[in-house]
Amino acid sequence: MTDSLSAFAAAKLADLDAAHLRRRLTATHRLDGLWVERDGRPLLSFSCNDYLNLSHHPAVIEAAAAAARAYGAGAGASRLVTGDHPLLGELETRLAAFKGTEAACVFGSGYLANAGLIPTVVGPGDGVFVDELAHACIWAGAQLSGARIISFAHNDVADLAAKLEAERVGLRHALIATDGVFSMDGDLAPLDVISDLAQAHEAWLLVDDAHGLGVVGQGRGTAALYPSARIDLAMGTFSKAVGGYGAYVCASGPVVDLLRTRARTFVYSTGLPPASAGAALAALDIIAGDAELTARPLAKARRFTRALGLPDAQSPIVPVVLGEASRTLGAMQALEAQGFLAVAIRPPTVPAGGARLRLAFTAGHDDADIDRLAQAVGALMETA
Ligand SMILES: Cc1ncc(COP(=O)(O)O)c(C=O)c1O
Repeated sequence: MTDSLSAFAAAKLADLDAAHLRRRLTATHRLDGLWVERDGRPLLSFSCNDYLNLSHHPAVIEAAAAAARAYGAGAGASRLVTGDHPLLGELETRLAAFKGTEAACVFGSGYLANAGLIPTVVGPGDGVFVDELAHACIWAGAQLSGARIISFAHNDVADLAAKLEAERVGLRHALIATDGVFSMDGDLAPLDVISDLAQAHEAWLLVDDAHGLGVVGQGRGTAALYPSARIDLAMGTFSKAVGGYGAYVCASGPVVDLLRTRARTFVYSTGLPPASAGAALAALDIIAGDAELTARPLAKARRFTRALGLPDAQSPIVPVVLGEASRTLGAMQALEAQGFLAVAIRPPTVPAGGARLRLAFTAGHDDADIDRLAQAVGALMETA
């Protein structure tokens, strides 16, 4: 390894290693929606976003297989060329009905959705007001758009109001972008107040509800908890509670038509594979028909937060912030030794000094296992 690019990469990796920030892949065999096998050892996972364990649901797997048999393993091209297989339209109709919008547009992934949709609706001369803890792909979309990015303090509606007051007048169009459920903190955006601010300042509102669909608001997502909120762009993914892969944006008919014509990650990327669309359709049927199932992950998370005296969980995601990356990696290893998978999340995914175990509770977790985890995590929190 003597070429300059390899030398550059090796030096970067050495720096990351020294700061405990290098990331490595670990081969993981997900045995079902709860258990994984690593190095031949079963571990009970509290790190999968498969909140309803649907990735291994027999009806979802069968729908994926049937779709692949009927339409092939891949879409074959961008949807605008020959990749628009029939399941995609069916899925969009279903999503629009589920979210109560005129139309929906399916994308290849959540990252692609946000990276494509934000530059479609704003550009130079416009502004994007972004919650500082919004997901990386919202930031990517905002940066790609060329619009001015104005960050506001996390869930701080007074800060958002002040920034709209100060900045809106100089902008042609304005977009407010936030997660519905924050992916690393598990808290909810106050969508009613944010929506009021959007109306008052003639701004559009984008909500990324990747972690809300299927698990909050009776499975309908964060917006269902804030019926007064007007959300112009309701984005979400099939990669968390839906158990598969892919993403969507629900919006008005003209907005969806514009996305299909101009969003570069839609136009220049291959359509979602039939199996993923088939799986999502089957999973959405389950989510729409089983309110008891969709309520369970939050109830499980609350059992854990109550056992440890933490603030009540607002979603299935519970952060246990330990601070330094090395301490968090040590905690992950200690839990692994006890049979739990609780992956350490380090900067830059979370702010510096905010390394954490990011726990995700699912419908299928056993209460006794949650209590055992709470005991083990409680012991780790006490050891500085
Ligand atoms: C809030 C949020 N938005 C978007 C994404 C990206 O979705 P995808 O994994 O489908 O690319 C994720 C996580 O992956 C997420 O947590």
